[in-house]
Amino acid sequence: MLREKPMKASELSNPKPVVLKIGGSVITDKNEEMKANTQVINRLATEIKEANVENLLIVHGGGSFGHPAAKRYNIKEGLKEDSQKIGFTQTHHFMTVLNGLVMDSLIWHEVLAVSIPPSTLMITRNGRIQSFENAQIRKLLAMGFLPVLYGDAVLDSELGFTILSGDQLVAKLAMHLNACRIIIGVDVDGLYDNDPKTGKNAKIYRYLTLTELKKLHGSIERPMASDVTGGMYGKIAELIPAVESGIPVTIVNAAKPNNICMALKGEKVEGTLIEKE
Ligand code: IPE
Repeated sequence: MLREKPMKASELSNPKPVVLKIGGSVITDKNEEMKANTQVINRLATEIKEANVENLLIVHGGGSFGHPAAKRYNIKEGLKEDSQKIGFTQTHHFMTVLNGLVMDSLIWHEVLAVSIPPSTLMITRNGRIQSFENAQIRKLLAMGFLPVLYGDAVLDSELGFTILSGDQLVAKLAMHLNACRIIIGVDVDGLYDNDPKTGKNAKIYRYLTLTELKKLHGSIERPMASDVTGGMYGKIAELIPAVESGIPVTIVNAAKPNNICMALKGEKVEGTLIEKE
């Protein structure tokens, strides 16, 4: 079970946390296995440093580091045969490699970032977070550090192991830490009625209420085959509980310079805003 600890006075004086997800498609080249977009990672580190948000958490996705090995060995479906075990170790390891690149850049830019592997903090049950130890994250935030987590290969009490998406993690962290908002950085301008990369007439949603979002959830495009955690379809489903609990979600294009900096500062950025009402 999640250990809920009452907030100390010093923690209460901090503003509510902001949770930023950086999609794997932004920081990696999804067309080439294990290829990082290092220039983009560096630019994002500059923007995060410049925005200088107090009480920020970052979660990044897997892109071409996490998904290919996870798919090759069916890690999301759980342990069925011993030959998958090497895939579990590889998926987790490749995520730590990508995380290392993100961390290198953040540290180089003098961001007070501290990496936390989700697989050491939590266990899932049939793919859903069952327990997680959040004392370290709370302590780091209270001390002014910026915890950095990522989608990971994790242990599962029913399946043996599975894949925990960064999006499930974002929603859970935001709800448990009482975040004021979630920013989702993707490689398109927001949420569309169709995949904007393939459908020419895809229409962007600038603003959605929870009711509209739930309706959409049933009709939005199906996951891309290479993406074990379900692409935009998976993301939207994971965000519903967070929006339901009153946390607004902004989806912005993190591939466009300055968008993440502006979104972090609370400035208006072209994208999709999803709110409860
Ligand atoms: C996936 O995390 C992590 C692994 C495959 C190990 P995400 O689902 O959050 O990654 P992206 O953002 O879609 O690449």
